[in-house]
Amino acid sequence: MDILKTKVAIIGAGPSGLLLGQLLYKAGIDHIIVERQSEEYVASRIRAGILEQVTVDLLEQAGVDENLKNKGLPHSGIEILTFKQKHRIDLTNLTEGKQVTVYGQTEVTKDLMTARKNSGLQSFYMAQDVRINNFYDQPEVEFVVDGRAVKIECEFIAGCDGYHGICRASVPSDQIKTFEKVYPFGWLGILADVPPVSDELIYVQSERGFALCSMRSHTRSRYYLQVPLTEKVEDWSDEKFWEELKNRLDPESREKLVTGESIEKSIAPLRSFVTEPMRFGKLFLAGDAAHIVPPTGAKGLNLAASDIAYLSQALIEFYHDGSEKGINEYSEKCLKRVWKAERFSWWMTHLLHRFETETEFEHKIKQAELSYILDSQAGRTTLAENYVGLPY
Ligand code: APR
Ligand code: PHB
Repeated sequence: MDILKTKVAIIGAGPSGLLLGQLLYKAGIDHIIVERQSEEYVASRIRAGILEQVTVDLLEQAGVDENLKNKGLPHSGIEILTFKQKHRIDLTNLTEGKQVTVYGQTEVTKDLMTARKNSGLQSFYMAQDVRINNFYDQPEVEFVVDGRAVKIECEFIAGCDGYHGICRASVPSDQIKTFEKVYPFGWLGILADVPPVSDELIYVQSERGFALCSMRSHTRSRYYLQVPLTEKVEDWSDEKFWEELKNRLDPESREKLVTGESIEKSIAPLRSFVTEPMRFGKLFLAGDAAHIVPPTGAKGLNLAASDIAYLSQALIEFYHDGSEKGINEYSEKCLKRVWKAERFSWWMTHLLHRFETETEFEHKIKQAELSYILDSQAGRTTLAENYVGLPY
């Protein structure tokens, strides 16, 4: 068995693991990343694409914002289409100048991977049978790569291995509590090289269900439809998708919509999930390993980034100043922000989707709430403030 030593072993090379690695590298803290998939697989996953200002700032601090600065699209507002009318939420005016940036998670991941390669940092891809041991005392990570067994002896483990990872699953069940809500529908998403229907994102609440018009660039669009969980992606031809999207749009957008061949099509279930606490001795959970939000409001990647901001800071304080304060406060600080983003994502999902089990009374109340939010300055401010991201 090969035995390696490092300060921090990072499990998972998604955005959380890669960003933590980059911030630790900048601070001169020795670490190794262990990922079970191939590099190509990680770099090609398609996920959401809205970055809060605090996420953009963190990527700048990590020194991986060159492409983001050149290709990211700043957005100062979003549209909510309901009652057959579009209502603009002026994010920037409602939040004293804040905005969001449209830049795909796929691109964030690629930028982080390129930076890591250029710095010659150590990563193991295609690691099999990854196990973590002894994390209340002397942490170790074991895995097999290219047929050879490897053990990493480390001081901390960062569990950045996503919802299906092994880190959360390795915690003794009496030390952990999870909270979950599963929604009775999914999002059917397509990516297509056609210009976006509008300069701004349109969140659509319609009698036929929710839809979202988003984008990756001026020439690449991302659209979503709420569909029952029983739907199969094979049953959705491009034509059927465009037809249904048109049916959920207003006449003006329907007219303007440019359709084309899809380059990706998939159905994702919607889930809210939180793990408490997020630290177990010398093991930290971060990103999707600790929490999941439904995509309405695009908080997933941003929450992963705020966990990593707290975690990198805590580790830097520990190694540079010998302070354990950040480490001890990590879980509490993260969870405070996590639950607020969970609430916002749940609320937007609830407000904009059609629930089959909803009574007529509940439906009327929901319409009244939406109407109140859109018509009142206080209501629009609440939405805008959460959408652009709450402060750290
Ligand atoms: N060993 C090593 N790596 C693993 C293991 C394992 N046992 N299990 C999973 N992984 C890897 C996955 O292959 C993946 O590359 O961990 C990585 C986790 O990455 P993500 O799922 O992208 O999670 P995270 O980095 O926290 O990013 C959160 O992703 O799903 C979105 O909305 C979410 O945008 C948010 C972001
Ligand atoms: C996306 O572009 O993929 C996206 C945008 C906004 C959301 C969710 C997804 O709320």
